[in-house]
Amino acid sequence: MTAHLNEIEKNFISELSPIASLQDLEELRKRYFGRKGIFNDLLDKLKKLSSEQKQKEGQALNAVKESLEKSLQSKLKQLEETQLRAELEKNREDWSLPAAPLLIGSSHPLTQILEEVMETFVSMGFSVAEGPEIETDENNFGALNIPPDHPARDMHDTFYIRGNPQHLMRTHTSPVQIRVMRSQKPPVRIIAPGRVYRHEAVDATHSSVFHQVEGLAVDENVSFADLKGTIALACQRLFGKNVQTRFRPSYFPFVEPGAEVDISCTICRQSQSNCPVCKGTGWIEMMGAGMVHPNVFQAVGYPPEITGFAFGMGIERIAMIRYGISDMRLFYENHLDFLSQF
Ligand code: DAH
Repeated sequence: MTAHLNEIEKNFISELSPIASLQDLEELRKRYFGRKGIFNDLLDKLKKLSSEQKQKEGQALNAVKESLEKSLQSKLKQLEETQLRAELEKNREDWSLPAAPLLIGSSHPLTQILEEVMETFVSMGFSVAEGPEIETDENNFGALNIPPDHPARDMHDTFYIRGNPQHLMRTHTSPVQIRVMRSQKPPVRIIAPGRVYRHEAVDATHSSVFHQVEGLAVDENVSFADLKGTIALACQRLFGKNVQTRFRPSYFPFVEPGAEVDISCTICRQSQSNCPVCKGTGWIEMMGAGMVHPNVFQAVGYPPEITGFAFGMGIERIAMIRYGISDMRLFYENHLDFLSQF
């Protein structure tokens, strides 16, 4: 039997070494160590021997069996490792391939200007306020000292809400002044950005929906000089250190005195008679402004001795001047060719 064992051992080893798959290895294992395998067969034979022989042969048998099982285990480990490595190799990422292009978006040019204007005033101590786009007639007109027969209240200028004559699409951001003053005591220092609506034919410089930023500062002893200083500084921050500001008398029902604010032309620097932006005047209209009218303070319940200034500007205008855009409709058409330039 010992001689037979030696042969089994030799056969096993020579069969084991060329095995290259887990499947073949399992087959080998079954053939030698399975229930009907060679070693079970030998054990059966062992049982028929005398007890003395059984012990001797049994020891030899177990020693060989253990050693072969060890070889089988280490082969198993080796094959599993090889297989894992092959799989990793197969699914390997190719880091040398060019990366998928990253599409980097940016804010809409109007949003960029809005944010710039807000940052400018926030850095000067103003905080941001907001109001709804559907307003009451009272907030949009009445409390702003705009009389019932004012042309702006005409159906041809304002979008009203059908079946609800007290509501309309706000025609400017000025009603936010009313909302803020009705909800807080002085001092007030706010800017209010937002969308406004006018019943207007759309062309290169008009849109029925556009954007404004409103400003309001209310406190004791606020003067026209404060208004001029604030606007001059803000315009320098927005358009450059050398920009000049000019106030022209104008009329808005909610301010007295009222003014139209111009800045010196940033396109031709006041040097071209045929400049398309300033039309050779050297000045660009920037905003309306003025000292808050006493009737407005009265409407919101503020004391008569309080003082304040207000201003309002169109964002599209500023963006068009800044970027040299001649047609306002480009802002709303969402062509990527246009938008991706900003
Ligand atoms: N609300 C005015 C408009 O839409 C602009 C304006 C003018 C706002 C003078 C103001 C102001 O606050 O003081 O035309």
